[in-house]
Amino acid sequence: MAVNYISTWCSQCHGVEGKGDGVNSTPDMLVNPRDHTDAAFMSTRTDKQLEEVIRHGGISASKSAIMPPWEATLQNEEIKALIVYLRKLCNCKFEGVVSDEKLKKISPGFK
Ligand code: HEC
Repeated sequence: MAVNYISTWCSQCHGVEGKGDGVNSTPDMLVNPRDHTDAAFMSTRTDKQLEEVIRHGGISASKSAIMPPWEATLQNEEIKALIVYLRKLCNCKFEGVVSDEKLKKISPGFK
């Protein structure tokens, strides 16, 4: 594990390998934590978008309120390191904006 705050704070929901299957991720969750190894979806996100969700929480991006805001917990450098780590997990980068229609196919629960 690259940085231990990932295993402490993120893996309980996103899973130790970032696949959205942490111990807190149960079928009764309205929206399950994102699978960060899903390159098809993750390549539709800019680094800035990922940063915003990490900083301000799911609600800030009309996503699940279960994704907490981390701004008060993590330093800027830690947030930047997380983005780098997320890009390693998906082995992808932003590949341009996709239409809402296509996004819904890639990620059926997408709002
Ligand atoms: C309490 C559970 C929980 C914890 C802890 C948590 N997340 Fe999340 N996370 C979620 C949920 C639920 C979503 C929403 C998925 C969606 O709406 O599609 C989410 C979404 C995200 C997204 C947005 C992906 C997208 O859809 O654009 C990122 C990035 C993210 N989490 C990173 C992290 C990082 C980094 C940490 C640790 C600092 C973390 N999360 C900790 C539950 C959690």
